[in-house]
Amino acid sequence: MTFAHHNSNEWDYLKQQLPQWLEQSREQCGSGKVASYIPELSKAPLEALGIHVIDSKGNLFTAGNSELAFTMQSISKVFTLLLALMDNGKDVVFDKVGMEPTGDSFNSMLKLELVQPGIPFNPLINAGAIAISSLIAGGSPAEKSERVLQFFRKLSFNDTLTYDQSVYRSEADSADLNRSMAYFLKDNGVLKGNVEEVLDVYFHHCSIQVTCADLGRMALVLAFDGTDPITGIHLIPRQYVQIAKTFMVTCGMYNASGEFAIEVGLPAKSGVAGGILTMVPGKYGIGIIGPALNPKGNSIAGVHLLETMSREMDWSLF
Ligand code: DON
Repeated sequence: MTFAHHNSNEWDYLKQQLPQWLEQSREQCGSGKVASYIPELSKAPLEALGIHVIDSKGNLFTAGNSELAFTMQSISKVFTLLLALMDNGKDVVFDKVGMEPTGDSFNSMLKLELVQPGIPFNPLINAGAIAISSLIAGGSPAEKSERVLQFFRKLSFNDTLTYDQSVYRSEADSADLNRSMAYFLKDNGVLKGNVEEVLDVYFHHCSIQVTCADLGRMALVLAFDGTDPITGIHLIPRQYVQIAKTFMVTCGMYNASGEFAIEVGLPAKSGVAGGILTMVPGKYGIGIIGPALNPKGNSIAGVHLLETMSREMDWSLF
């Protein structure tokens, strides 16, 4: 029986069903793999799965291992895009990155040479996010990273948000592919300045440590077009949130974004530490952690849980 056939309010029904849906999805973990190309990430627990849901009045509930701390990784790219848009405006940003999905994996550099002009296809693949890092305002890499951190703290309403230094170092020490991509972008005229400094900003924002509660609160701001519904504070211009949410639908789950749009139908962004940030626009912010990944780099149990929730609650926007 789905929610549409059930005689109770949506929030209560969700709260009642979620623990059992989560345990069913947890069974998927064994068929996934924890990311190991950044060595430090391989320490995450394979069987973990947690979720945090928050509504516009600040009501919240959690299920599973929602207290687990993890790094944002690619989820941070949505918010650095927003900051770059706020710092530079739309024209400057989309001179350096495109607006189209690639159909390739998140760390592919294939199309940079194949398709002209040689700018990254979109801001959510690694090449695009590295180009975005170079657009963050600030006089030094440290100042740019600090502005990013402060922006993330504001959106999560969490002043204690900070970096996981061991994940930061682990990525910086093992980032040959991202490094080669960044040098290629510099040669193409997409990146200006010192490549290592741009990469340092990128590695820092990927290593910001959060819990599902932080992701849920950040998602809530996007779900309400840039204004936090709990405090009424206006944080991001609406037209930039619209751009970010559209990218989340078309590119947020990488080369699984089409399937995710069909099976779940919500704007979402995943990261290789196993996080997923998603929302029901106008209603809920949702944060999920499940470190076991499917072959395309998305949390295997997290995606399964969202498929169940969207189907049962009839949440698809399409
Ligand atoms: O650049 C990287 O490879 C990581 N810091 C982020 C990649 C990521 O999260 C891809 N997500 N699915």
